[in-house]
Amino acid sequence: MTSVVVAFTGGAVVLWGLGRNLLTVNVLSPLSLPGRGFFSYQVFATMSTLHVAGAKQSRSLDSSVLSAIGRTPLLRLQCAEPGPGARVRVFGKAEFMNPGGSVKDRPALRIVKEGIESGRFDPNRHVLIDATSGNTGIAYAMLGAAMSFTVELAIPANASSERKRLLRSLGATLHLTDPLEGTDGAQAKVRNLVAKSNGQYFYPDQYNNEANWRSHFETTGPEILQQTNGEITHFITGLGTTGTFMGVSRYLQQFDDSIARVAMQPDSPLHGLEGLKHMATARVPGIYDADIATDQVVISTSDAYAMTRRMAREEGLMVGPSAGANVAAAARLARSIDVGTVVTILCDTGSRYLSDSFWDEPESATHVQSTPD
Ligand SMILES: Cc1ncc(COP(=O)(O)O)c(C=O)c1O
Repeated sequence: MTSVVVAFTGGAVVLWGLGRNLLTVNVLSPLSLPGRGFFSYQVFATMSTLHVAGAKQSRSLDSSVLSAIGRTPLLRLQCAEPGPGARVRVFGKAEFMNPGGSVKDRPALRIVKEGIESGRFDPNRHVLIDATSGNTGIAYAMLGAAMSFTVELAIPANASSERKRLLRSLGATLHLTDPLEGTDGAQAKVRNLVAKSNGQYFYPDQYNNEANWRSHFETTGPEILQQTNGEITHFITGLGTTGTFMGVSRYLQQFDDSIARVAMQPDSPLHGLEGLKHMATARVPGIYDADIATDQVVISTSDAYAMTRRMAREEGLMVGPSAGANVAAAARLARSIDVGTVVTILCDTGSRYLSDSFWDEPESATHVQSTPD
């Protein structure tokens, strides 16, 4: 057993130093994992090693929930395409299929992993605390349950009731903050708690943690490139912590600088798009570099809601409003070009917003066939 752990640790170190490399495949092959690409296996194998070395109870993570993170399908979204005859395809990366139900499983795993590797996070001694609009918290809580560490989260009190219940069910403790202050207020609360503590907290600070965007640089970006056979011409997604946009965009830029990288944000500070930031009025995340974007667009909450409903009714895809905003932005972009392959992110599952009233709003006549009595 010891020799296996040493071998994995060695592989992980090499992987960390060199990024994607063949040695990783060699190192991982003894795990006999089902073949769905190797990028996420890297993270998984590294996490397995760390858990064996550092958790309260020694427990194998080989077939745990960690192994289900990443390698999500890329789905064709005809509702966002200009129509028959158009030479533009639109795809959505189905991040709601991650085990925590959102794109945030990837950065959370990477953040925990880097925290343990750097020695900043000792799962036996520290409580992981962070500010999150919900999905990163769900991912942390999921990892905390699987890896036996404690999780505390500051979250705006107006986050959906489904999210709060989910977080508590996974064992996290919640600090509810003023809804009017949004995620900025949640961040302030965490900084306050950490400042007053005597070192029991590990505060990963996803807004300023490079592991956030690196998780997408090393997994989401390569997966998208592979799944489009390198044919992607436009990447467009909304800005929250900005990790998804920064990581995927940097990866694509490195592959081919001519791929358009379009950053989307809500059109007003008082929007209903959980997870997204109106940059002009919000605290700008430290990991954000506006120069990476080749273009910036805004989307209204009503357009986002309308597209979220269309996704459910026309594509059979239950996604959240930020995914609806992404697809609405992708559809607009698709109409503005003659040829191309547009990719966006389906950030989280719509089941988290079932109590929201936007689902009940009437559809425009063009999209819903009324059924006569
Ligand atoms: C539902 C949802 N959509 C979009 C985002 C934005 O992703 P990112 O933080 O990578 O910018 C988040 C982030 O928390 C989210 O929870």
